[in-house]
Amino acid sequence: MSPQLIVVGAGLFGLTVAREAAERHGLHVLVLDRRSHLGGNAWSEADPETGIEVHRYGPHFFHTNNERVWTYLNRFTAFTPFSYRGQSNHRGEIFPLPVNLATINQFYRAAMSPDEARARLREEASMYQGGPATNFEDKAISLIGRPLYEAFFKGYTTKQWQTDLRLLPAETLTRLPIRYTYDNRWFNDKYQAQPADGYAAWMRSMADHPRIEVRLGVDFLSPTAEVNRGVVGRVPVVYTGPVDEYFGDAEGRLSWRTLDFHTEVHPTGDFQGTAIVNYADVEVPWTRIVEYRHVHPERDYPADRTVTVKEFSRFADTPGDEPYYPVNAVEDRARLTRYRARMEAEPLVWFGGRLGTYQYLDMHMAVAAALSLMDNKLSPYLQTQTVGD
Ligand code: FDA
Repeated sequence: MSPQLIVVGAGLFGLTVAREAAERHGLHVLVLDRRSHLGGNAWSEADPETGIEVHRYGPHFFHTNNERVWTYLNRFTAFTPFSYRGQSNHRGEIFPLPVNLATINQFYRAAMSPDEARARLREEASMYQGGPATNFEDKAISLIGRPLYEAFFKGYTTKQWQTDLRLLPAETLTRLPIRYTYDNRWFNDKYQAQPADGYAAWMRSMADHPRIEVRLGVDFLSPTAEVNRGVVGRVPVVYTGPVDEYFGDAEGRLSWRTLDFHTEVHPTGDFQGTAIVNYADVEVPWTRIVEYRHVHPERDYPADRTVTVKEFSRFADTPGDEPYYPVNAVEDRARLTRYRARMEAEPLVWFGGRLGTYQYLDMHMAVAAALSLMDNKLSPYLQTQTVGD
């Protein structure tokens, strides 16, 4: 059966489009991915030594306020409640994150009320003497003062971005709330949960449809691939791979940050007592340690072994590096504008997902963006076509 729609990339964006095209429009959809598994970065598998579910591309915690996305995804997996609560190791002492009343009181060795803490931080912040706070460092100091900034943000963010924090935009910080309560849930969303049977089962369930065919290990951009860009213009394509690669880097390469993971198995049932501990100090080379057993406390994991993953952050500058976070520097934004003009001109290709649009997307955002592509662009186009078997 020849496909009526080709989806490049079996991540959440691609799988949502494929499922919708098959169900809403009755299309035969071919999904290609160059990796050997479904799910893109939202993929997990059992650690071979402990059986503990480990997220291969860094920890994934599902959260959303979007009712449509939540209802939609519940068709494919059950979820168990899980709220990610942060901790930070600063000079050998553990503090709760995001910065909240407990962090502030522990840091100042105090028992301040919310109002007193606000006043204390206002006082610290008032010592900021610079102009408008347009960069990360100035914004942080103008919000919470220098001591908390230097303890919890400066070292960590320097390790994350390996750049002068005065060159990072202020928005990088505004994503992290400061709370004057003892709530240290990382996200504020109404729904915070993990797929009950893991990410692999969730992704397989999305692809499990008689009109969806998945072929793994196929690189759409390789001239020797069994299905490749030679089909462009003849079959509609949704492309969720890197946009610069699609155009042969014609406008220059977009820059990304990547992560290196160091996995260790320990002879104990609990290494750190929580899912993630950040390491705030610049002298410690890793940014955080993830202990995956804590993501599913309801599971029967071994009592005498546990697995942890240390994360190290760096620029993606070596061939084969996974692109994780868009750097979004001034030159990247200029290149992206030029790529957008090329995307507009590409016949019968819709670009989407985090790599296809050069945008950080959380999982719920990838699903919402895919549904919106269907609603606003693909469905109207497909309705104008006569679709036959
Ligand atoms: P995704 O990258 O998942 O999929 C794209 C797919 O396209 C890949 O499988 C790739 O192999 C394939 N592809 C590319 N080029 C191709 C080609 N030429 N031919 C064939 N296939 C090709 N979100 C969240 O909600 N909570 C969280 O806690 C986290 N945590 C997190 C940690 C880290 C370290 C990262 C990097 C990201 C997160 N995320 C997250 C974000 C989450 O991973 C993101 O929402 C999804 O990956 C987006 O799905 P996409 O389908 O857009 O891309």
